[in-house]
Amino acid sequence: MKPGAFLAALAALLCGATLAQAQTLTLTDRDGSRTFGVRDLLNHPAAQNISITPDPVYRRTMSYRAVPTAVLLKGLKVGVDDYVQARATDDFSVAIPARLLMAVPPADVEAFVAVESPVSRWPQLPGKQDGAGPFYVVWQQKVRGQVSSEYWAYKLAALAVTDSPIKRWPGLAVDESLPAADPIRRGLDRFVAVCMACHRFNGEGEGEQGPDLARPMNPVDYFQPAALKKYIRNPASVRAWGEQKMPGFDAESLHDADIDAIVAWLGYKAARK
Ligand code: HEC
Repeated sequence: MKPGAFLAALAALLCGATLAQAQTLTLTDRDGSRTFGVRDLLNHPAAQNISITPDPVYRRTMSYRAVPTAVLLKGLKVGVDDYVQARATDDFSVAIPARLLMAVPPADVEAFVAVESPVSRWPQLPGKQDGAGPFYVVWQQKVRGQVSSEYWAYKLAALAVTDSPIKRWPGLAVDESLPAADPIRRGLDRFVAVCMACHRFNGEGEGEQGPDLARPMNPVDYFQPAALKKYIRNPASVRAWGEQKMPGFDAESLHDADIDAIVAWLGYKAARK
């Protein structure tokens, strides 16, 4: 073996070793944490074969060995209003409402942790160098597009129970009596996940780039509903200038139903000042 080839082989070996180390999923609540290896999950009593049509990350039908997240989270202390922070091996992180991860049939959605078997690796993600493994949060949904695209958390390393943004910013909340599947709740989830990166609402939140969307007026009080939805999809389609900073959202990152839901939530809050 040439020295170069030897070094390459050694590097591949070391890489393999770090990969093997990273192949664990850590579940954390406020009391402690548990760690699962790939084999623990592949052999989990609740593991099942599921098919996702289409998988929005791979953009085609995919089959997985997967464990329902409701089963995995069962032993943890999770409140109905909690969120679960899904952290990826590359530190990308998204907060998912716990009530979605805990939903069980006949609910409209069910989440699973898909587990990549070392003997049957997943393909590369479109446009990326690697696949979605070792773990990947996937969703079965009765109606397509019910779960926002950020919640398909791939290259997953950890799930950690955290306070909901509503606990931090109670002014965003909707009434408890509103059913779990009400679009207004989804609008709140989407607003928190997408819009609050830049916007505050009635002073609550940390967004700095855009205007407060409740003070002094809520956009539903001065926008025609159709124009507001058009603006959220693509601000420049309503008014455009050189310094415009708000990005548009394509249908993949924000479904029409998400925009409807956000506007419904804005309207709900405007009516209850
Ligand atoms: C990356 C930052 C950013 C994100 C994310 C963002 N916005 Fe904006 N938004 C802005 C900025 C900045 C403005 C002010 C106009 C401009 O410069 O584009 C604005 C303006 C607006 C306006 C117009 C207010 C007015 O009276 O003209 C509305 C309505 C709005 N945003 C709603 C939303 C909603 C709903 C979302 C989530 C789906 C969202 N924005 C996400 C940055 C953002």
